[in-house]
Amino acid sequence: MAITDIPRTIWWEDGKVVLVDQSRLPLQGDLLVCNTYDGVCHAISGMAVRGAPALGVAAALAVALWATTAGAVIDDTETFLAELDRVADEIAGTRPTAVNLAWGAERMKRFARDNADVGLDELRELILIEANAIRDEDEARNRAIGANGAELIEPGSRVLTHCNAGSLATAYFGTALGVIFSAHEQGKIEGVWVDETRPVLQGARLTAWELKLAGVPHKLITDNMAASIMRAGLVDAVIVGADRIAANGDVANKIGTYGLAVLCKEHGIPFYVAAPTSTVDLTLESGDDIVIEERDPREVTGVTVSGIIEPDSASALRAFDMLTDAGAYEVPMKKGHQLVIDRKGGAYKFDGWFRIAPPGVEVYNPAFDVTPAAYVTAIITERGVVRAPYIETLASGCCGSGAIHELG
Ligand code: MRU
Repeated sequence: MAITDIPRTIWWEDGKVVLVDQSRLPLQGDLLVCNTYDGVCHAISGMAVRGAPALGVAAALAVALWATTAGAVIDDTETFLAELDRVADEIAGTRPTAVNLAWGAERMKRFARDNADVGLDELRELILIEANAIRDEDEARNRAIGANGAELIEPGSRVLTHCNAGSLATAYFGTALGVIFSAHEQGKIEGVWVDETRPVLQGARLTAWELKLAGVPHKLITDNMAASIMRAGLVDAVIVGADRIAANGDVANKIGTYGLAVLCKEHGIPFYVAAPTSTVDLTLESGDDIVIEERDPREVTGVTVSGIIEPDSASALRAFDMLTDAGAYEVPMKKGHQLVIDRKGGAYKFDGWFRIAPPGVEVYNPAFDVTPAAYVTAIITERGVVRAPYIETLASGCCGSGAIHELG
């Protein structure tokens, strides 16, 4: 157990994009190998890869994958660039809220146009180099965010975090968890409160797993416990990531973040947002302009479970062997429950969805909320820590040059 044990998320290997399937972590640690850019789009919309900075990297690698596969047969530069634009826009459209996704796609579009005069063969190679550079830059940015943020953490801190802004949500190391990892290395973390983060449970499944791998002391709580532990004086700071930050400092992040920020104000607890400058969207005046993704109602009406079954009796083993003899077996079930069992090595894997709400119930399932800047104590970026008035500090101190979004 050490910080070096935290997982990588997404990388390029043998002409393909490989990613850890986060939708099934931590109990099934499968790798998805994407041969086509639309395979990556599928992985994004199904949340096999997720988290704002990781989505930026996924977008860049997906464009490179297109350029070196379907795009490799195009021999006319203008057609190539027009198709690349179309593909990049399609990738950017897979999820609306995290600006990093569009940022990664836009950066690849711009890079291709700026370098088009080298000829198509070389351009395709350069596109791949650029995509890998975006991945490497993300890791470097996160380490800088970690170092900048750790300075804000007092020794003996009990920190609460929401969702997963860890290594899995980035190319490596994480943003909010990057701060926690860095502060832990400095001996400042007494413990981390991990919100389970309904409905997709990124906290329970991913953050708790990363903290365990890293050897950082932590306790998992349900989302509705935060107020009570704050009132009991058990939380010294809250640190979250962000999916998009507007020019005025309003922050979109996983649903439930706003509630935490309000609670922090009530209890006098600092509320920190850790995010790379690629998450800052200076084209949006305020959080009111941020498009909030609404997801499948089934995330709320039931629970999704994936795991490994290791039978410990010969008869149970025989039963599973019979079921999976001809491959994946979908267990017929009433009331809409779903369960698929398949073999995996010497054991069996399962994917299930079990209904918990009555059939036909109406659902509202926004994946993100917006925390007004007034609740944000500071925003920790790779370029430093910025504080209110964000309309000035984001534009000058932090993101005034280099943020793609300022260009529209
Ligand atoms: O729906 P998700 O899992 O992609 O949501 C992720 C979050 O809300 C994270 O907090 C955010 O992307 C920051 S990740 C460093």
